[in-house]
Amino acid sequence: MPESSMTGKRILLGVCGSIAAYKACDITRSLRKIGAEVTVVVTSGGARFVSPLTFAALSAAKVYGGMFDEQDAHTIPHINLARDHDLILVAPATAQTIGRFASGMADDLLSAVVLAADCPIVVCPAMNSKMFSHPATQANLEKIATFGYQVVQPDSGPMACKEEGPGRLPELAVILNAVEQVFIPQDLAGKRILITAGPTEEPLDPVRFLSNRSSGKMGYALARAALLRGGEVVLVSGPCSLEAPANVEVIQVRTAQEMYDAVLCHFEAMDIIVKCAAVSDFRPAQYGLEKLKKDGADLLLELAVNPDILATLGERKKEQILVGFAAESENHLGEGKRKLAAKNLDMIVVNDIKGEATGFQSDTNRVTILTRKGAVKELALLSKDQTAMAIFDEVMVLGGGGA
Ligand code: CTP
Repeated sequence: MPESSMTGKRILLGVCGSIAAYKACDITRSLRKIGAEVTVVVTSGGARFVSPLTFAALSAAKVYGGMFDEQDAHTIPHINLARDHDLILVAPATAQTIGRFASGMADDLLSAVVLAADCPIVVCPAMNSKMFSHPATQANLEKIATFGYQVVQPDSGPMACKEEGPGRLPELAVILNAVEQVFIPQDLAGKRILITAGPTEEPLDPVRFLSNRSSGKMGYALARAALLRGGEVVLVSGPCSLEAPANVEVIQVRTAQEMYDAVLCHFEAMDIIVKCAAVSDFRPAQYGLEKLKKDGADLLLELAVNPDILATLGERKKEQILVGFAAESENHLGEGKRKLAAKNLDMIVVNDIKGEATGFQSDTNRVTILTRKGAVKELALLSKDQTAMAIFDEVMVLGGGGA
């Protein structure tokens, strides 16, 4: 299995003359980091903002600009560049270039390549908000959408021209997601997916709490995988230091009770629920409003049992697909099967927390997936992103949830 869906993908990045052109440097780097090969085509305006030399260094490849560069003439660049790429990403795309695309013009290299291409095309407009909102630009964007080009909507906010409004190039993560999604089947499109992640914290007093070693990495990888497959994702997250994927609705919680409330509130509207969080089974029976003082005597901590969120969902579920996790240090399959039945789950992902590179905080995982239909699937040691994708593959085998 390739490390990512982007491994070896050939991306042509078109850079136009917007102040946001400097952000195309990061786009180039990030695309290469996730395994893509990048060829940059800079318009004459783009080259005024960022030197082609910068893109050559970042992409480790030749940068194209002029339509009639004599040393390239024999390779017919506008045709070969169109033919040799899996996707064209235009970021930033100016009003001028979008107008060229919309009217089928081919008077510079980028517009000629786009006209000659039959690969997917993703366009990220970036310009002054009045230029963006102008009926001409909007009509052009609508028109290129009818050609099948994907338009990534710009962000709103303060701009270099000291105006505010729509027109800012979206966050890097949003652009990368749009690119990655092109290469991933959108089999979760139209599905609502709730994922829980991370630990919970159970406060004892204002400075102390009970918790566990969960990093949240597996749950966040699941949220990202569901999003990349086209799902609408709600992530209920316990305290952790990870950045949530762009375009995911995140609900931050601290305690098991808060997680219970957040999950139960969304449960009915969901098609698929993946309960990856390491919920604290117990909480201190008493919370001290003031910091507990030591008085020389031993302290006996009384614990109360937290609600089992997953078991509650198992009792209430109707059409939803319910996926649990089981973190086990012994008798993995036996415990997995027991929890699958006891909590009325459709699937359980059993995790060997004592294994090498598979425990808490690790970037990799080795899991076994058990389903209510009796399937037992042992996955190899994979990155958590790959494991997340494999888990949703199995969810799709079960039916994908919903009607
Ligand atoms: N879980 C939950 N609420 C709890 C405890 C666990 O929703 N109070 C969920 C976890 O999110 C996970 C699954 O139940 O999906 C199994 O969690 P795990 O800790 O392995 O099992 P427990 O049911 O707590 O059993 P034990 O700790 O006895 O192994």
